[in-house]
Amino acid sequence: MIAETTSNAAPAKAYIGFGMEGFIASWYARQTFKDIDVFRNTARRLSEHITRGARVLEVAPGPGYLAIELARVTGCRMIALDISHTFVSIANENAGKAGVDVCFEQGDAANLPYPTGVFDFIVCRAAFKNFASPLAALDEMHRVLKPDGTALIIDLRKDFSSGDVKEFVKGKGFVNAALIRLIFNTMLKKRAYTCEAISDLAEQSRFQHGDLRLDSVGFELWLRKPAHDAG
Ligand SMILES: C[S@@+](CC[C@H](N)C(=O)[O-])C[C@H]1O[C@@H](n2cnc3c(N)ncnc32)[C@H](O)[C@@H]1O
Repeated sequence: MIAETTSNAAPAKAYIGFGMEGFIASWYARQTFKDIDVFRNTARRLSEHITRGARVLEVAPGPGYLAIELARVTGCRMIALDISHTFVSIANENAGKAGVDVCFEQGDAANLPYPTGVFDFIVCRAAFKNFASPLAALDEMHRVLKPDGTALIIDLRKDFSSGDVKEFVKGKGFVNAALIRLIFNTMLKKRAYTCEAISDLAEQSRFQHGDLRLDSVGFELWLRKPAHDAG
């Protein structure tokens, strides 16, 4: 673990909705493991931006599949931080089973327990819409990045269609598919950002600008800390 900074106090509730603890976290871990190829492909794609030995942070890794694959594929020094105690324990167990050295820690995206300017690359997948203090989370990512470092937010877009979800749940079994469709079409749709809202947030943050790339159901927001920016 990298040495902690001063304050580590979390706000009363750091996430929107319910916390992903206990059986909810275990259910999510089992479901998303079925999509392990998606995590592997994402890790391979991101490996172009990560050199061996680079310091990489995943914010809100859940069961840790992306962080584990990134460490395996790139040989980076990987740390990951999640608000859920259950996920931290599941992810550490997964890293042990995979035989990769990833440190999963508990904490809040809006109050990262790391010094300024230590990470080369930060990724946050399928989680940003759940953050209670999204602007603070972006500013914290900016703070802990090295000058010339990159942060990447990957998440759902608000305008995904029910047809897109139908496609996504294909082959997941009747009960799980129904549950996932319900979660997407209610909770997640409500929380997801529009392209305009996520771009506005990037502009308000210390990054001041983000490069937004879209796919069928989601977006990627690429954020860069300028080389001359040490703050
Ligand atoms: C839907 S899961 C996504 C997990 C993983 N990134 C993935 O791609 O499968 C959302 C994650 O965000 C975490 N989370 C929510 N609010 C958080 C916060 N304020 N700080 C850190 N993690 C948070 C949850 O505990 C959960 O692990």
